[in-house]
Amino acid sequence: MNSDLNLRQNSLPRLFIGADQPKVAAPPQVAAAPQVPLSSPDITEAEIDAVTAVLRTPHLSFGPELRDFEAALAAYHSVPDAVAVSSGTAGLHLALLTLGIGEGDEVIVPSFAFVAVANAILQVCAMPVFAEIDPVTLNLDPAAVERAVSPRTRALLVVHTFGVPAEMDTLQAIARRHSLFIIEDACEAIGAEYQGKRAGSFGDLAVFGFYPNKQITTGEGGAVLARDPVYAKHLRSLRNQGRSEIGEWLDLVETGYNYRLSELACALGRVQLSRIGEILALRRASAERYDALLKGIAGLELPPLILPHRIISWFVYVVRLPEEVDRDQVQAALARRGIASGRYFDPIRLQPAWRTYSGAGAATLHLTESIARCTLALPFFNRITMSQQEEVTAALGEAIDTGRAF
Ligand SMILES: Cc1ncc(COP(=O)(O)O)c(C=O)c1O
Repeated sequence: MNSDLNLRQNSLPRLFIGADQPKVAAPPQVAAAPQVPLSSPDITEAEIDAVTAVLRTPHLSFGPELRDFEAALAAYHSVPDAVAVSSGTAGLHLALLTLGIGEGDEVIVPSFAFVAVANAILQVCAMPVFAEIDPVTLNLDPAAVERAVSPRTRALLVVHTFGVPAEMDTLQAIARRHSLFIIEDACEAIGAEYQGKRAGSFGDLAVFGFYPNKQITTGEGGAVLARDPVYAKHLRSLRNQGRSEIGEWLDLVETGYNYRLSELACALGRVQLSRIGEILALRRASAERYDALLKGIAGLELPPLILPHRIISWFVYVVRLPEEVDRDQVQAALARRGIASGRYFDPIRLQPAWRTYSGAGAATLHLTESIARCTLALPFFNRITMSQQEEVTAALGEAIDTGRAF
């Protein structure tokens, strides 16, 4: 018997191993939730009322909440159209399809990002080209982007990492010079501003994500902003199986997807968006408290609170550990004290699924990799308390001291 099969057999539920085993499987072991979670949604009675009200209507999909949520998103960003979709990843997929990006095309992306950005490019049979990041903003470095442009490049997928806006004026100039599309990935950056304009209002299309760890949530969900009504119409058709807006339900004008967002999710998103000013202020205050508390830990690099020309929309609070300290050990020490933490982000190129990727831009990105080795996301959410932040600070300080002693 080969060892792989052995392994799989050993992992079968006890119920199937022998006749004398109990006939009812034991309940699955669920890991105890950490006392200080990494993220936590902020749901008030207003959201609960809005979602409950939807349940009292016959409209659970394609109703007034979708229309209102989309209108509010578009107005907040001063763009003509927003198209709500089932996730940020679905939004990226549709954005690429809408711009006609496909086989043989290259799209420049950061490797220091959530893997969905590269997966979506592969989904349309195009090739991600990974480019180096700026060490301060952690966003695409415009000089590296310029070097990565080839005759096959069709678009820049610009991620506003951790809610810090990318250097849009320089990136837009590069895109103009080489006739490239810009897709903004603002999944982590709703409410961020660059030179007085909101993230998401620069690109040909811009994508948002509303997973529960985001500044505002719809449970699962996302949206694509479009400045061109032709793109908006195409997005609406693609998210709904390729239906035309004016035709009958079963009139399909192209091949599409079910990337719709339910009325329940839209109601949740509409109320969350109406609270965004308060939400972003709470998150900024939490970031400022961490800044004051963590300054005392020698060798720990903190994220900048202020950056020129930018307003940060605080998505996560990511510190950089001293190089000599083992991050896994720090995370384990925090976990022992009930404190969650996250490796934001392992470079996409180093993910097991991507190690054998041989497309352009596959070369090692030294800066990305050296930064990514020591980044650590700490618990961060709207209602994190001062005492929780003090607890995290004490635990982190001790874990770093212990790590240094080794
Ligand atoms: C930058 C970025 N892009 C895309 C996504 C994908 O969004 P979703 O999880 O809603 O599919 C995420 C999610 O965390 C993200 O951070």
